[in-house]
Amino acid sequence: MATIANTQAIVRYNAVARALHATIAALVVFNLVSGIGGEAIENFWNPYPLHKGTGMVILVLSLARIGWRFTWTTPEWPTTMGRLQRLTAKGTHATLYVLMLVLPVTGWIMSSANSKYPISIWGLFEWPKLAVAKGSALAEVSHEGHEVLGFLMAGLVVLHIVAALHHHFIIKDNILRRMF
Ligand code: HEM
Ligand code: HEM
Repeated sequence: MATIANTQAIVRYNAVARALHATIAALVVFNLVSGIGGEAIENFWNPYPLHKGTGMVILVLSLARIGWRFTWTTPEWPTTMGRLQRLTAKGTHATLYVLMLVLPVTGWIMSSANSKYPISIWGLFEWPKLAVAKGSALAEVSHEGHEVLGFLMAGLVVLHIVAALHHHFIIKDNILRRMF
């Protein structure tokens, strides 16, 4: 039986967009898991130094990705996607872009204020800290924000992955294949 996937030519995202998406996705998943599960495994291995360095790398890559994003337009969605589906996809993607910046920045602010340990980029060099006082409103809001928005991001990433798999295995269109 012909499926949507094999009756339409695939127009893929460009190679840089795909490479940045895959790299950032892997790093974000690591940071969500290490952030949420970190305390449970802290006695065996403390993931936070790696969590912090990886978070700063995500910030730099996300800025590059968003800059690159302004230079091209996305391939058309299949006509089988309705208005609500398009709105949900657009909203999720836009929120993910915002969280890819806000999570690292709130983490950077709270770690600058609260931690005596350096922010090391994978043992290669030290990331500078911001001049934020411990106990200040900015440090407190960043800490709260990092936690609440971290859980929001985890939920959106699960939704996003489930949607991608739904497109691939149930609807059988090209959405997943054009991003990998
Ligand atoms: C996209 C990047 C990041 C994601 C998705 C992320 C996600 C998370 C999540 C979900 C938590 C658990 C929240 C909680 O239960 O309190 C967490 C905790 C934490 N994150 Fe991040 N994070 C990111 C970047 C950073 C950065 C850049 C730093 C610091 C430079 C950082 C420092 C921390 C610290 C110190 C904790 C523990 C907080 C506590 O004990 O209350 N994170 N992160
Ligand atoms: C690891 C599992 C993941 C899969 C299977 C996946 C799959 C996809 C697919 C198929 C698209 C293209 C959607 C379309 O053309 O409408 C996409 C876009 C996107 N993904 Fe993911 N993704 C994953 C993880 C992530 C993570 C962790 C993030 C968060 C940082 C993320 C952020 C985005 C963004 C922002 C877009 C929109 C790209 C654009 O059109 O500008 N993805 N993803």
